[in-house]
Amino acid sequence: MDKKMKKKEVKGEVQAESHINKHPVRHRMNIGKLYFVTTNDNKFREVQEILKPFGILITHKKQDLLEIQCRHTDTVAQVKAGDAYSRFMNPVLVEDTGIFINSLSGFPGVYSAYAYKTMGLEGFMRLMKGVKDRSVVFSTSVAFKPDSHRGFVFRGEMEGRIAQRLSGEHWGYDPLFIPKGFSKTYAEMKPDEKNAISHRKKAFEAFAKFFNEHYCQDFRG
Ligand code: IMP
Repeated sequence: MDKKMKKKEVKGEVQAESHINKHPVRHRMNIGKLYFVTTNDNKFREVQEILKPFGILITHKKQDLLEIQCRHTDTVAQVKAGDAYSRFMNPVLVEDTGIFINSLSGFPGVYSAYAYKTMGLEGFMRLMKGVKDRSVVFSTSVAFKPDSHRGFVFRGEMEGRIAQRLSGEHWGYDPLFIPKGFSKTYAEMKPDEKNAISHRKKAFEAFAKFFNEHYCQDFRG
């Protein structure tokens, strides 16, 4: 197996790990367009900006994908990638994100979208009222599937804490998440400030380095 493809944990990031099979990439390959499949415009905007400095352009495909219930975002992302590839028959990039609250044994984790829809951020504020340990990890798993027999997963994590009150207006959990080393929520940051440090940035940066080493695109975007 190609040394570069081995699992390598770097500050919470899993770089270039092949979960789906063991066929290494041996040469730089041209893959044409790269589809980022998500129904979430916020995610697309962020990922587009994060990948720009690496010269990687993506094409947005809005499509609901199969989202299985399991304990890890890596697995959810892999299954999404398989579903996306079989629908488009084109190299695809997908992601799955979860917020893991330590004092709640990792809840909502892979159920973050469901919890957000059902109890909302106010529900989380009630749940965390008076809780001393407010530590939390925001985690994104990116799955890249260039063809029918290969797949790669990259993870980025950001530690932080749950704010005492919701601050700022942005999307999803941003108004309650204060990243480690900061005193404001993601939602209070400018987009480029969040993109410079976020869980998503770490995951896509790991992907971008791998992609630029092993692949190239003829038709950018
Ligand atoms: P999913 O990856 O779309 O399943 O995301 C799970 C949940 O986390 C959804 O409610 C998203 O809105 C939310 N979410 C994902 N990424 C972020 C982020 O960067 N900031 C805030 N909320 C997010």
